[in-house]
Amino acid sequence: MSPFRITRTLPEDATGAALRADALHGLTGTPKTLPPKWFYDARGSELFDEITRLPEYYPTRAEREILIARARDIAATTGARTLVELGSGSSDKTRHLLEELTDLATYVPVDVSESALRGAADALLAEHPALDIHAMVTDFTSAFELPETPGPRLVAFLGGTIGNLLPDERAAFLTAVRGLLEPGDFFLLGTDLVKDEATLVAAYDDAAGVTAAFNKNVLAVMDRELGADFDPGAFEHVALWNADDEWIEMRLRSARAQTVKLTALDLEVEFAAGEEVRTEVSAKFRQEGVKAELHEVGLELAHWWTDSEGRFALSLSQASDERR
Ligand code: AVJ
Repeated sequence: MSPFRITRTLPEDATGAALRADALHGLTGTPKTLPPKWFYDARGSELFDEITRLPEYYPTRAEREILIARARDIAATTGARTLVELGSGSSDKTRHLLEELTDLATYVPVDVSESALRGAADALLAEHPALDIHAMVTDFTSAFELPETPGPRLVAFLGGTIGNLLPDERAAFLTAVRGLLEPGDFFLLGTDLVKDEATLVAAYDDAAGVTAAFNKNVLAVMDRELGADFDPGAFEHVALWNADDEWIEMRLRSARAQTVKLTALDLEVEFAAGEEVRTEVSAKFRQEGVKAELHEVGLELAHWWTDSEGRFALSLSQASDERR
C-alpha cells in the first residue's frame, strides 16, 4: 500500500468568508464584478466539464494533444521526482505525465476541493498503486508551502487557468510559483493563445448555451450561499473579446432595472437596465509575453510546444539561480 496523505491549509470556513468578501466588494464596486472561482460548485463543475467537450471549446483538446505528444520530452528534460499540480481537479490530464515520469516518487495535487482530491487519488492509485500521493487542500492563489519531497520538482499549472488572473495577480502568482522551486526545478504552464476573434468568442458563447448556463450558475451560487434573490432569467450571457487587453470577458447583463437582495450581507444591489457584471477574464497569450513574464520572476523558457493548429501552448521553464 502506498501512502496517501492529505494536508489542509485552507480553514473549513475560509470559503464562506471569502465568498462574502468577494460578493460585497464586487457588487458594490463600479463596474460590478464577481471572481470566476465562484462558478465551480457541483453544478458549475459539471457544466465546465460539459464545456470541455463542446465543439467550440478547443483549449482542453488542444492541451491534451500537446501533453500526449510531449510527455516523454517533459520527463526526459525534467527527470522530475516530485510533480506538483496546482488546481489539479480531477487530475484527468495528469495521467499522460504520470505514464512517462518514470523517476517520480511523489505526486502533490493541490486544489480547494477535498472531494475532487480524494476522487482523483482513488482513480490514480488504481493505475499507479506504488505512487506516493500527498494531496493539499489549499487555495494556491494565497501563500502556501510544499511538503518536503525529493527534487527535481516539476510544478504544473494546466488548462489555461492562469488566464483568469488579472496582470498584477498573475505577476504575484508567478512569483509565488518561483518561490516553490529550487534553481534547476521546472514549471509547466498551459496558456491559450491569441487568435482570431470569431474562434475565441465562439469558445465562450457556444451554440448549445452551455457556457451561458455556466456563467449564470454563479447567480445560483450567490442565491444559495448568500441568501440572494438573483433571478438567472433576468440576466443575459455576454462574451466579448477585449482586443486592447487581449482577453475574453464574460459578463452578465441585467435585462431590466432590478434590485437584488443578499440577505447574508444585509445588502441591496441596484442594477440599471443593461448594466453588466464582469464574471470572468480569460487572458490569451503570445510566446514573447509568456517568456518575458516568466523571466521577470527567475524562470527561463526552455520549451514552447503548441498543438498542430497553433491554438494553445504548453511552456516548460526552469528556475534560474536568480530569485526575483
Ligand atoms: C478553466 C479558466 C481555463 O477560461 O477558458 C470556460 C473557464 N470559462 N468557459 C477558461 C471557462 C468559460 C476556463 N478555464
